[in-house]
Amino acid sequence: MKHLLKLLDWSSEDIQEVLNLADQLKYEQKHGLAKKHLEGKTLGMIFEKASTRTRVSFEVGMFQLGGKALFLSSHDLQIGRGEPVEDTARVLSRYLDGIMIRTFKQSEVEALAQYGSIPIINGLTDFCHPCQVLADLMTIRERKGRLTGLKMCFIGDGNNMMNSLIVGALKSGMSISVACPENYEPDESVLEFAKTYGDKFAMFRTPKEAAVDADVVITDVWASMGQESEAKERAKAFEGYQVNDELMTLAKEDAMVLHCLPAHREEEITAKVFEAHADEIFEEAENRLHAQKAVMVYLMK
Ligand code: CP
Ligand code: NVA
Repeated sequence: MKHLLKLLDWSSEDIQEVLNLADQLKYEQKHGLAKKHLEGKTLGMIFEKASTRTRVSFEVGMFQLGGKALFLSSHDLQIGRGEPVEDTARVLSRYLDGIMIRTFKQSEVEALAQYGSIPIINGLTDFCHPCQVLADLMTIRERKGRLTGLKMCFIGDGNNMMNSLIVGALKSGMSISVACPENYEPDESVLEFAKTYGDKFAMFRTPKEAAVDADVVITDVWASMGQESEAKERAKAFEGYQVNDELMTLAKEDAMVLHCLPAHREEEITAKVFEAHADEIFEEAENRLHAQKAVMVYLMK
């Protein structure tokens, strides 16, 4: 059974295939050619964290594909009262055709897949955000016409976004440079993976070093969901880790800027840079819909 637990599990071909399918589904949707690929199928969506894009794009996507999506807040599920994930997985597998889950621990997502018997899709954990990165790759390819040979740059926290972007970029033939403060590096397993790509991956302390000649500059919030109590300390640690006009002069002249959203203006990105690249950023948000429809068709059809 195939899942999307993390991009580390997917081959370059899996990623390529889903990106191609996403382009096709986007074209079909915009030209009145959409097909009901998942007619009669039901997706359960478990949320232990807040969401705007992920929730709405999965629900709308499932509707457009002829299926149904169930919103399952962990506050209302028995899982929120301590029912083990192993049991939840075995029960839900008997009702549903797939599960999308947004939670804290990656191990919970992996346990759902281990004990369930239906495809599991990771809708964000503290470790990774593979659905977002598929939409990001789709957006870059759409605008630049290719991925191979391009340089991605990520400024900020070694969080779920940085982890997934490193893996997604390298598996797609891109190079990637990241800049993060000490103690905020990407996950060890991701660094191990990136090492096997030699000089296609580089990690710096200063944003300026990472941004040189970048084709795409990406950032994310300094404090992710669940880290609210660290916000003050993080604001100090991330001072200067900002995508602003000065930084953008180092990237290629036609460099794109992406942000998974929500964005904190004047923290990780200036309002000026954000608005100058709003077209790209909101296309990226739209592409969550198309990329996730592709993931669901790929795994659930
Ligand atoms: N980018 C993203 O995943 O947005 P939501 O938190 O709104 O789902
Ligand atoms: N790193 C952010 C991404 C939100 C989509 C978080 O985990 O809150």
